[in-house]
Amino acid sequence: MKSILSLLALPLLASANYRVPPPGPDGKYTLKAPGIEAKFIPYAACITNLVISDRNGVSRDIILGYDNASLYPVDPNHPDYGAVPGRYVNRIANHTYVLDGERYYTEANDGNGTLHSGTNGWSHRTWNVSEVTNNSITFTIRDEGNSSLGLPGLVLGTVTHTLDEKSWSTKLKGVAVTHKTPLMLTTHPYWNLDAFSNPATDLILNHTLSLPYGKRMIGIDPTTQSTGALPSVPKGSVNDFWSAPKQIGAGIKDPAWVGNCGSAFNCSGYNNQWIVDRDVIEASKPIATLSSDYTGIKWDLYSDQAGVVVYSCFWMGGANALKKSQLGPATNGFVRSNGCVAVEPQDWIDGINHPEWNRTSKQIYGPDTKPFESNIQYKFSTF
Ligand SMILES: *[C@@H]1O[C@H](CO)[C@@H](O)[C@H](O)[C@H]1NC(C)=O
Ligand SMILES: *[C@@H]1O[C@H](CO)[C@@H](O)[C@H](O)[C@H]1NC(C)=O
Ligand SMILES: *[C@@H]1O[C@H](CO)[C@@H](O)[C@H](O)[C@H]1NC(C)=O
Ligand SMILES: *[C@@H]1O[C@H](CO)[C@@H](O)[C@H](O)[C@H]1NC(C)=O
Ligand SMILES: *[C@@H]1O[C@H](CO)[C@@H](O)[C@H](O)[C@H]1NC(C)=O
Ligand SMILES: *[C@@H]1O[C@H](CO)[C@@H](O)[C@H](O)[C@H]1NC(C)=O
Ligand SMILES: *[C@@H]1O[C@H](CO)[C@@H](O)[C@H](O)[C@H]1NC(C)=O
Ligand SMILES: *[C@@H]1O[C@H](CO)[C@@H](O)[C@H](O)[C@H]1NC(C)=O
Ligand SMILES: *[C@@H]1O[C@H](CO)[C@@H](O)[C@H](O)[C@H]1NC(C)=O
Repeated sequence: MKSILSLLALPLLASANYRVPPPGPDGKYTLKAPGIEAKFIPYAACITNLVISDRNGVSRDIILGYDNASLYPVDPNHPDYGAVPGRYVNRIANHTYVLDGERYYTEANDGNGTLHSGTNGWSHRTWNVSEVTNNSITFTIRDEGNSSLGLPGLVLGTVTHTLDEKSWSTKLKGVAVTHKTPLMLTTHPYWNLDAFSNPATDLILNHTLSLPYGKRMIGIDPTTQSTGALPSVPKGSVNDFWSAPKQIGAGIKDPAWVGNCGSAFNCSGYNNQWIVDRDVIEASKPIATLSSDYTGIKWDLYSDQAGVVVYSCFWMGGANALKKSQLGPATNGFVRSNGCVAVEPQDWIDGINHPEWNRTSKQIYGPDTKPFESNIQYKFSTF
């Protein structure tokens, strides 16, 4: 079978007849750049594998996903592994919002709220592949109005993933063609920087996280819906990752740990959004840094977004099988609670229900506005 790279060698890219090469025998597109290799699938515009070398030169696949590309669309657990959710990411409280005086009702798929636009959101669809090079892939989606309940008008989405030397970046774009609509996109990778190879633990509680701008959060009710409050993050509190880098599990004995991400179900740890409090976007400064002492792998996250969601995988109940490359000695073959950490840069959660936050121009787009555009980049290193 012809490899992707040999197909790419054909001078087709510039031609109007450019045909997208098929994925590899594993159903995935493999991209490479110096010091990094990653795989992507059209379902949810997903990243499924991301391999870099640890401090000893051992290759580690540090992102969660499945070996079997065909499993993603039918997986009943559907954790949005590595996906691009949309058209409006994260929660809509009480599955409703008002736009230009009209009330819309979205799908209640998360208690009484909406999560990631419902069960036909962008992370539940097979996207088109419009271009593949040896280090980039572009996915497109045509999202008709109302194909997710209560989200009006046609939106055309484009996502380009690019690998450069020890870097993975994603360019997200959404054009609202016919109607004003909520529009907010992100990437949803789940990380275990040990690649589950640490013999002492399969969890991420000892990963070190820094959120240097995270001095305020989006306040949540017991079911994790935004309340409108913007609580500040006191130094030394469980949610303090701004005053100094800290292990994710450092606050596990703090009474505030239990229920921190939703008291109705005792969600423990993190499924929260920190505001990226900065007046000017300093492109050279990361909004988050994650590292693990075991592998010595670290990433710095760069984005133009005004918030970052961190989810420490409390709800991973052991139903999702690990990839073969991740069956380390401390694992039982499945992802356990706290076995991963998802990170999602995005604007303030449920800003469409809080005009007093002044996020409208970042979250509502239409034929008369510029498109939604965002850039997200992870830069990897070892220490
Ligand atoms: C991959 O997943 C699909 C969908 O669940 C299933 O039909 C198929 O048998 C799986 N293939 C392998 C090799 O496990
Ligand atoms: C949901 O609606 C109920 C009833 O109107 C209201 O009491 C509650 O505050 C709403 N929740 C949120 C998070 O907006
Ligand atoms: C759920 O949301 C609806 C509005 O969509 C609201 O009328 C109802 O009171 C909410 N229920 C609860 C329990 O908050
Ligand atoms: C990738 O493509 C670029 C431009 O098309 C080319 O210069 C480069 O040699 C290719 N790299 C590999 C590893 O094939
Ligand atoms: C993919 O392209 C086809 C042909 O243009 C179109 O009918 C289909 O809606 C597209 N799929 C998505 C997910 O956008
Ligand atoms: C969305 O669906 C509703 C109800 O089916 C319909 O009245 C409305 O015209 C649709 N709006 C758009 C913008 O597609
Ligand atoms: C995690 O780090 C703590 C110190 O912060 C240490 O006591 C503990 O042994 C570490 N656990 C593992 C599994 O490495
Ligand atoms: C939450 O934890 C408290 C204290 O351990 C317990 O009393 C309560 O039943 C738990 N609630 C749920 C929903 O599990
Ligand atoms: C929104 O703008 C108003 C008017 O400038 C300001 O008073 C308010 O503090 C802003 N809200 C937030 C959350 O920044």
